Amino acid sequence: MKRVLGGIAALGIAALALTGCAANTGGGGDDDLITVGFAQTGSESGWRSANTESLKAALSEENGFELIFNAADNKQEAQIAAVRSFINQGVDAIVIAPITVDGWDDVLKEAKDAGIPVILEDRTVSASDDLYATWVGLDFKQEGKTAGEWVADNFGAEPTNLVILEGTTGSSAALDRATGFAEAIDGTSINVLDSQTGDFTRDGGKKVMEGFLQKYGSEIQVLFAHNDDMGLGALDAIKAAGLTPGEDIKIVTIDAVKDGMQALADGEFNYIVECNPLLGDQVADLVKKVLAGESVDKAYIVPDGAFTQEDAIELLPTRPY
Ligand code: AHR
Repeated sequence: MKRVLGGIAALGIAALALTGCAANTGGGGDDDLITVGFAQTGSESGWRSANTESLKAALSEENGFELIFNAADNKQEAQIAAVRSFINQGVDAIVIAPITVDGWDDVLKEAKDAGIPVILEDRTVSASDDLYATWVGLDFKQEGKTAGEWVADNFGAEPTNLVILEGTTGSSAALDRATGFAEAIDGTSINVLDSQTGDFTRDGGKKVMEGFLQKYGSEIQVLFAHNDDMGLGALDAIKAAGLTPGEDIKIVTIDAVKDGMQALADGEFNYIVECNPLLGDQVADLVKKVLAGESVDKAYIVPDGAFTQEDAIELLPTRPY
């Protein structure tokens, strides 16, 4: 079901091939299949791996799709280049998990001008919603708020020092979680000592936490990490500093992937707010609806839970990711 390429698009492919910017994988061109280009952020976290697997499973040949997958290594220029490559290849639809909120206007307009619908998943963009068909994802602000309410309820009555490991700078996940968390602890006795990005990775979380520990030592009483992976990286730094995670430093994170839930069950994390990565089926359904000309909403929010140690012990054996 691939489109016939115009001269300009064909030139675009040649240029991309020369600069080595073609998508990671290509399809065989079965005309009965819906060709979808999926521009993923990268592979920064356990959540991201589960999200990629969910989309690959849903956008399968068995389900009527030919998937062209690209992971951009958390670099927005690479992600935009992948989207341009999808436009030049004349795919039927484009799915994007946008790394950052800003910077999407031009390429989304190019997709619109080429008549290719864009379905956003996971994170949001600041571009006008005329430029994409729909979005399915999570309420990041509410996730941050839920984490902040747990901190406020448990520590907000007494002066308590907290540090924050932020997600990728400029991503809607990091921006909205920060806003929700700040609102929830506003007016309490929580003192935010420091807040820096760990880029949603274990390495980033470890390095930034090492810096926090060097600077503030045992003054740190609570850690809020914008995702499990940064929290897991921070565990190494905390243990190396001779402190006990979950006891000397209480830890709240977001995601609830298996490794995070294991840390919660083991008492090294104290609370996790869920962020559901299994968006593939909804994305596949929306692609089909949009291409069939059916009306869809501009936004679909997938609900999240939140877990204590007891929940983690109960849920771990059946946790799918
Ligand atoms: O956008 C969702 C966030 O991106 C997840 O919380 C994080 O783990 C991922 O990298």
